[in-house]
Amino acid sequence: MEVVICQDEEQVGAVAADRVIAQLHGRQTPVLGLATGSSPLNLYAELKRRAAAGDVDFAHALGFALDEYVGLDPKHPLSYRETILRTVVEPLGMNPDRVMVPNGFVADLAAAAEEYEEAMREAGGIDVQILGIGSNGHIGFNEPTSSFASRTRVKTLTQQTRDDNARFFAEDETVPTHCVTQGLGTIMDAHNLVMVASGPAKAEIVAAMIEGPVSAMCPASILQFHRRAFVIIDEAAAANLQYADYFRHVAANQPA
Ligand code: GLP
Repeated sequence: MEVVICQDEEQVGAVAADRVIAQLHGRQTPVLGLATGSSPLNLYAELKRRAAAGDVDFAHALGFALDEYVGLDPKHPLSYRETILRTVVEPLGMNPDRVMVPNGFVADLAAAAEEYEEAMREAGGIDVQILGIGSNGHIGFNEPTSSFASRTRVKTLTQQTRDDNARFFAEDETVPTHCVTQGLGTIMDAHNLVMVASGPAKAEIVAAMIEGPVSAMCPASILQFHRRAFVIIDEAAAANLQYADYFRHVAANQPA
């Protein structure tokens, strides 16, 4: 795992954009794994700037989202399909017809999840999976105790996740209880992982992910087993790391 500590969340976005663009270099049809949440917004803003500057072109890219709520109409403004279209696809100039989001609004959710896995396989896998981390250590919606071997499937959201996400919903709306999410095994198949996190609220879980034992109680700790996992965090999110000075030293002393 490579850990980069940045001054602030703007720098997190810029460093993460460098990583994403470097990993897509030379790919005719880049395949991006897309995450919702506030954490990657600076990254998407930076990718938009780089695309406008001609550094990268997403017009032919394929996109696969990590997760979706169950029972929410895909046209609902808070569905992850709509969120991804609004916050990623449109600003980056991706083709919406080439962006897939798990389907949480069909009768046969298991069959739809299997089709989603198949579509990712047919695309040749994800070149770069962008990730945030939930306050309980989830990635996608893989809640604590998720199997490290899991594939795209229905999961029940924890109360903590529903509370965290309640801020997006109106008072008279209930936060969905279930979701469809890529599994931890699915995420681990991506060729590169770029995780971004910022702010003091993430400090404890970021330390558990990077320095804690690999445990299903912190699903994101599975990143310790990935060969190409880049974790880009700001100073506030790095506050609980024992090895913060080491990570700064490594970043400042790259071999020629
Ligand atoms: C949601 C998403 C995750 C995301 C997490 C953190 O639950 N399913 O993919 O990483 O929230 O969100 P934020 O970045 O807003 O803290």
